[in-house]
Amino acid sequence: MEAQPVKTNIALIGFMGTGKSSVGRTLARRLGRKFIELDALIEQKAGKSIPEIFHHDGEIGFRELEIQTIKGIEAEKNVVIACGGGVVLNKINIDRLKEGGVIIYLKASPNVILKRTSRDNLVRPLLNVEDPVSRIQELLKFRKPFYERAADITINTTRLNVDGVVGEIIETLKGNESFHI
Ligand code: S3P
Repeated sequence: MEAQPVKTNIALIGFMGTGKSSVGRTLARRLGRKFIELDALIEQKAGKSIPEIFHHDGEIGFRELEIQTIKGIEAEKNVVIACGGGVVLNKINIDRLKEGGVIIYLKASPNVILKRTSRDNLVRPLLNVEDPVSRIQELLKFRKPFYERAADITINTTRLNVDGVVGEIIETLKGNESFHI
């Protein structure tokens, strides 16, 4: 039987406020790898901020840019990628991320997500609404199966700080045959 190619990238997925960016940055530093923040790359490509993209081009325009940006990093190796919370909505994104990498789903309880996102709703157009609590509940319910289907590894971050999550990811990857740490 042919050996499976070893994956070298780590892609972090999960709902807004689950710590993908802070965990990704720390994880990349610990592993001596390049860190790619997908939303920052999208902003750079568009020449405007995420709220401006949503305002001018709508969510559809943003999703299109998200797809193109992931396509643009396909050739990267040995990188840690923090994805935006909605990356799972287009299967093509997950197929591309899985090609060269392992997908780690960071999950957290709705209460923790609420607490972690309430400080910066303005930078998250999807939560910049009259009733962000209901919006979070709706989105979480709809997206849960997408995250679960995409995940190779799931880490519950509810009771962990950034270093705790990073430690757990490293431990889990050490025991993963298809991944070289
Ligand atoms: C989104 C999450 C955001 C950003 C955009 C859309 C989403 O990223 O990509 O506002 O659909 O969940 P974070 O998950 O890093 O906040």
